Amino acid sequence: MDPTKRARVEAWLQYADELGFSPFNRDRASKSGETAAVPQPQAEVQSSAQPQMMAAAAAPRRVPAPSAVPSARQASAPSAAPVLPASPGFSLFDAAERVPDDTLPRIREDIGECTRCKLHTGRTKIVFGVGNPKAELVFVGEGPGHDEDIQGEPFVGRAGKLLTQMIEAMGLQRADVYICNVVKCRPPENRLPERDEIATCSPFLLRQIDAIRPKVICCLGACAAQTLLQTTQGISRFRGEWMDFRGTKLIATYHPAYLLRNPPAKSEVWKDLQKVMAVLGLQPKRK
Ligand code: URA
Repeated sequence: MDPTKRARVEAWLQYADELGFSPFNRDRASKSGETAAVPQPQAEVQSSAQPQMMAAAAAPRRVPAPSAVPSARQASAPSAAPVLPASPGFSLFDAAERVPDDTLPRIREDIGECTRCKLHTGRTKIVFGVGNPKAELVFVGEGPGHDEDIQGEPFVGRAGKLLTQMIEAMGLQRADVYICNVVKCRPPENRLPERDEIATCSPFLLRQIDAIRPKVICCLGACAAQTLLQTTQGISRFRGEWMDFRGTKLIATYHPAYLLRNPPAKSEVWKDLQKVMAVLGLQPKRK
């Protein structure tokens, strides 16, 4: 590993230790007998509900950078949409090494019957994620609600039905995309996931994204966007703009639950989804 990168990862791991987070995946290599991968650093999550840390690195840079390095799979993407870097400085997620040959079943196995954070005490089922393991489009929500907790599948309640309609309007089926959340267990009373919960769970989200290698990540709502972009900025500041997440195009849009409360915002979301469709070469569903 590049020594500069290693020093940065080590500094972040020390910082995470000082905050009391244990590396999320410590046992994995010893169980499987593999060469130990560098433990994935914990996310330093910025959320509007959380104290601001790393404030200097909190704002996604707004200078267009069309030359952002595309991934191998993105090289053929038809769109020349300008992509903004996720944050102006170093990001924990940038430093996280990909787990070689990682797969969704393996990540699910690593999560196990998780008790890593306090959310486990109130959950019925872990809501890992659902959909095409080779999806070009990944939707990331916040965390399971009541219906998802019972069924073990993301976005199956009222907001989920709206998301399904949005996906179908894009000319896709739910099974074509991958849908997951920042945290895999339901927060009590549907409160926002807390910083420690996000920090514990988000490395698994990162591995899911890395394993799928989508062309586009669509963040549904502030929690997902602020977590992946490591920003404290409100989502309305960067909604609908192309951002870069470790070489993958990322766009944030409003959460379907917000749309249920504010139907006029649907037109903004549709504009965002049309940008996604342009990148993926999709035609809207015929009425
Ligand atoms: N809201 C989310 O963010 N995720 C779900 O799975 C359901 C509702």
